[in-house]
Amino acid sequence: MLNRNKLNKGGFLITFEGIDGSGKSTQIKKLQNLFKKKKIKNIYFTREPGGSEFGNKVRKLLLNDSNINFTNESQILLLLASRFEHYNRFILPIIKENGIVISDRFQDSTYAYQCGNNKKLYDILKYLNYSLFRNFEPKLTILLDINPKLAVQRINKRNKKNLFDKKTLSFYKTVRKNYLKLAREKKRIKVFDASLNKDLLFDNINKIITKEIDKR
Ligand code: TMP
Repeated sequence: MLNRNKLNKGGFLITFEGIDGSGKSTQIKKLQNLFKKKKIKNIYFTREPGGSEFGNKVRKLLLNDSNINFTNESQILLLLASRFEHYNRFILPIIKENGIVISDRFQDSTYAYQCGNNKKLYDILKYLNYSLFRNFEPKLTILLDINPKLAVQRINKRNKKNLFDKKTLSFYKTVRKNYLKLAREKKRIKVFDASLNKDLLFDNINKIITKEIDKR
């Protein structure tokens, strides 16, 4: 069977992960600006949920439609359907052409957010991940780690909040714990202290991403 990680040879996927309020968007914006300034080509930015027409519809449904109370199982199914489209129609073709995709969230979000402490949900996700994506994983994951109390303070300053932004502190504590557990298991996940000054944080992130790009 095709080992999907071999696809990561020339082109590859880099992901950003972290709880809401960890400052992902700010760091990704800085990266986009830097690549633009340096005129670096063949790097594509995307996000999840999103990345395809269907993905954007799922985003709206999950993040904005407060009339539907989705179970975690249904959330997993919707997110994976959207990821499958995103992966096959956007990510994979770029990687096959030796391009680099940088995604704001990917598979680790579903584990951290939807699975909680529930082994049954984790087993469902693991099975579907294998069936749909084989062993495909990002080459590098930047995990922005932050104390959930600080993250919630940041979220509360936002004007527009989505349904996940309205979750409780204990929900974010579990999400953070899940992320850190994954980081202990997977070498591709590099943990950064997101409470650092944002320029300093960006220098650290940029160093590791540039190293990965230069290795190609
Ligand atoms: P963001 O794009 O501002 O980070 O918001 C996306 C929200 O969607 C965030 O609260 C996390 C949530 N989410 C999940 O719960 N599971 C997933 O698999 C993904 C991709 C996102």
